[in-house]
Amino acid sequence: MELKVPQTLRLEHLELREQLYALTKEDNDLGAAARAVMELFYMHAVKEEERVLPALEALPRLAEGRIPESVKSMEDIAADLKGGLYEELFEDHKNLEEALRRISSAALALGRNEEVRFVERLTLHFRTEEEILYPAARVAAEYCRLLMQCGEQ
Ligand SMILES: [Fe+2]
Ligand SMILES: [Fe+2]
Repeated sequence: MELKVPQTLRLEHLELREQLYALTKEDNDLGAAARAVMELFYMHAVKEEERVLPALEALPRLAEGRIPESVKSMEDIAADLKGGLYEELFEDHKNLEEALRRISSAALALGRNEEVRFVERLTLHFRTEEEILYPAARVAAEYCRLLMQCGEQ
């Protein structure tokens, strides 16, 4: 069985993408800034959903001391993260935040407080991933890989 992105995270990404998409339709500085962010965010979110976040689905099972069903996927995620993906994710956030600053200034200039809050929300999403979700995915995948290694000996 394939691992899936936990639904809470899938929905959060969906909501952020929808809000950003709505901004890209505007014919002003805000729209131009949103289009630049969207280009980066879309690829970044796909990367997370395909190569990182599925490891989190195994967490409840691992917490109960059980082996996840998709050990192979966990081993692949562990290798991928160790092979540079982990650092790449942080780098993506840096580039995204730089692009997001243009949305903030355009929104401020237009007196659009809701859009300023949207940038804050997206930034908080990045911090949550950096402080909790990425490390948790990495620990879960690596722990699973070690468990399998011990089992083989
Ligand atoms: Fe994300
Ligand atoms: Fe992210």
